[in-house]
Amino acid sequence: MDLKLKDRVAVVTGGGSGIGQGIARALAAEGCKLHIWDRDKSAAQETASSLTATGVIAQSTAVDVGDPSAVERAFAETLARNSRLDILVNAAGVLSTGLVADLPTTEWQRIAQVNLAGVIYCVKAAIPVMKQQRHGRIINIASVSAMRGGGSVGNTLYGTTKAGVVALTMGLARELGPFGITANALAPAVVDTAMTHTALTEDAKRRILERIPLGRLAQLSDIADIAAFLASERAGFITGATIPVDGGILTT
Ligand SMILES: NC(=O)c1ccc[n+]([C@@H]2O[C@H](COP(=O)([O-])OP(=O)(O)OC[C@H]3O[C@@H](n4cnc5c(N)ncnc54)[C@H](O)[C@@H]3O)[C@@H](O)[C@H]2O)c1
Repeated sequence: MDLKLKDRVAVVTGGGSGIGQGIARALAAEGCKLHIWDRDKSAAQETASSLTATGVIAQSTAVDVGDPSAVERAFAETLARNSRLDILVNAAGVLSTGLVADLPTTEWQRIAQVNLAGVIYCVKAAIPVMKQQRHGRIINIASVSAMRGGGSVGNTLYGTTKAGVVALTMGLARELGPFGITANALAPAVVDTAMTHTALTEDAKRRILERIPLGRLAQLSDIADIAAFLASERAGFITGATIPVDGGILTT
């Protein structure tokens, strides 16, 4: 299926690693021009140069999405290079575990600033140009934890930030639909990335696998392929949706 994404301009936050990097590669394979944003400057540069080496037009920007003025500067820089923005993928995110009673308020502020406020800042920066184009695709990476109050003990605050992303996505669909802009989210369960390797013991991973009907963790391509589809013209009538890409874990 031709996704008709040739020469579309995409910003991928968190594109230096994991899911963001996987989505950037999938969009590049479909002919998009990529802007890789990440707080980790060298990770962003590495993703961009590995794409450039294959003939893709890709640039990197070091930006903390939780800093609204840094996001505005990064957008200005991106627009100066391309003068349009077709696709915004919000994949930058941080994990935090601990009981609500135990986690310091500053830890809540840290994760909410990236996982929720960061998405809002990037979306706010992208809306004016997408409205002007009367075209845009916003894809937010939420999590199945949003649908289950975190999903496990110690995950409540992380899940709360992702539940905010689900609500934001639905509201954006309503606000932006009249301008030809769609907003959707993906809700992965556990994806085989650096974030998961750091956070999960082998025992925790085994217990999660027991609950996944399809019997494996998600690979990056499982998420990236759906993101590329949502970014495409083929998905033009889907908006406000949060699509679980979870191997069926929400059914158990
Ligand atoms: N890995 C999973 O199992 C899983 C499951 C569900 C949802 N998610 C979500 O998917 C997204 C990507 O996760 P991942 O597993 O690829 O993690 P990852 O740690 O591999 O990648 C996250 C990237 O985001 C960047 N980042 C972090 N804070 C940032 C900030 N303030 N500004 C800019 N960049 C920042 C990091 O430098 C990193 O490159 C996150 O939003 C995460 O919550 C992951």
